[in-house]
Amino acid sequence: MTLNHSIVVGGTRGLGRALVELWAEGTSAISVVGRKLPDASVPTLRDGIRFYSADLTKFETITSTFDEIVKVAGPVSRLVFSQRFRGTGDTLDGELDVGVKGTQRIIDYLVSKDLFAEQSAIVVLSSVLGQFIAAEQPLGYHVAKAAQDQLVRFYAVQLASRGIRVNGVAPNLIEKESGREFYLKNPELKRHYESLIPLGHMGTPRDVANAIDFLCSDRAAHITGQILTVDGGLTVLLQHSLGARPDIRPI
Ligand SMILES: NC(=O)c1ccc[n+]([C@@H]2O[C@H](COP(=O)([O-])OP(=O)(O)OC[C@H]3O[C@@H](n4cnc5c(N)ncnc54)[C@H](OP(=O)(O)O)[C@@H]3O)[C@@H](O)[C@H]2O)c1
Repeated sequence: MTLNHSIVVGGTRGLGRALVELWAEGTSAISVVGRKLPDASVPTLRDGIRFYSADLTKFETITSTFDEIVKVAGPVSRLVFSQRFRGTGDTLDGELDVGVKGTQRIIDYLVSKDLFAEQSAIVVLSSVLGQFIAAEQPLGYHVAKAAQDQLVRFYAVQLASRGIRVNGVAPNLIEKESGREFYLKNPELKRHYESLIPLGHMGTPRDVANAIDFLCSDRAAHITGQILTVDGGLTVLLQHSLGARPDIRPI
């Protein structure tokens, strides 16, 4: 695959930003989309990385922004969706509009205009909450993540003949920059999480970025329609094993 042009939707912050930082080490043109442009204090990383402001809930904004993006940097080889609804109001409507419909609108628009490069890849940031329930997250988040997983499988089949692979990445407990202070103030919670994760530590945004990078690469050339879990093994443990001490084995 030629890596001429990558687009990271939701790449101004969080996990998307970590991917932009990883890809900034390479040479491809990178277009980063967020609701707002990053403030001037955020480094722009290098030439060839351009930031665009677009609200994914507004179709007209999507068409004009993506027309501009492709006009400037060419057809898309890697397209990653890392946006997350952070608005107020009904979270079910918001999560579906930003996470699911926003993704669908962009893919359909780029396909309809034939704006993907040959042999391209799409990755959607999902979550283990597409399959499991976390008490602290709202209904809308769970429903949107399950819908995104099906969206990945649907487009994987629909777009395969065009040479476009579509996969998802499902992170779990990730220690983001913005959460560092929280865990510093709550070290016992962090220790608790670490004690549950078979690999013994929380994931990092770079761990997630590496998984996305792999799925976008030629090394994943025969992989499409898959959701790759990045969670240090946590979700493969049977529930009752989570509370068991690893040094005590039942006979
Ligand atoms: N963080 C985790 O631990 C974790 C775990 C599992 C799954 N995930 C998934 O990973 C993805 C990224 O999560 P995150 O925590 O890194 O997100 P985040 O830090 O909240 O960043 C969200 C990004 O989405 C953009 N965005 C939000 N609403 C938008 C809209 N209406 N139009 C255009 N852009 C919009 C934001 O732009 P602005 O800054 O301009 O608003 C920002 O760039 C999400 O799909 C999330 O569900 C994250």
